[in-house]
Amino acid sequence: MSGMPAWGFHLQEREIWDIVAFLGELPAMTPRAYQAAAGKPAPFGLAPVDKIATTGPDHRRGKLALTQYACQSCHMIPGVTGPRTFVGPDLDGLAQRPLLAGTLPRNEANLVRWLRAPQEVKPGTAMPDLGVTERDARDMAAYLLRASE
Ligand code: HEC
Repeated sequence: MSGMPAWGFHLQEREIWDIVAFLGELPAMTPRAYQAAAGKPAPFGLAPVDKIATTGPDHRRGKLALTQYACQSCHMIPGVTGPRTFVGPDLDGLAQRPLLAGTLPRNEANLVRWLRAPQEVKPGTAMPDLGVTERDARDMAAYLLRASE
């Protein structure tokens, strides 16, 4: 029940270990040493790598992804523990809604599209782009549609 989300969906295993190593060094680092280290080009990109889905969407993994992307900080989601929040619409009953975000016909493909690029679908919407990968979006969509039936 820690309020801190886990990072397995945002960072690769190696990146997490690199951050752990960095945090170990940080307390003893001078500002000059920090700047010198930060000025160097990163050895790898931080953007999550899309893993190619070889099987159909996995709703159990989707539920885990929802908590790791912290979707419950803005939405109430059936089966996902979180605060009573009304920043975004309650996702219960999503499977019965005719439209997503009032614009896209509600179906699985459009839900994946929305989760990956809400700002492209509806420029200026209060839902931020969260860097969701194709696989994570498919798994989350599977969970959301199933849990809200
Ligand atoms: C910073 C708050 C915020 C976060 C974080 C957020 N959303 Fe949203 N979301 C919104 C808002 C606000 C809307 C309404 C957008 C609109 O209609 O323009 C929305 C709309 C939606 C919709 C359409 C709902 C409907 O009734 O049409 C879905 C589905 C959705 N979000 C899923 C997610 C998922 C899954 C995540 C995590 C990957 C997520 N959201 C993260 C704020 C957020």
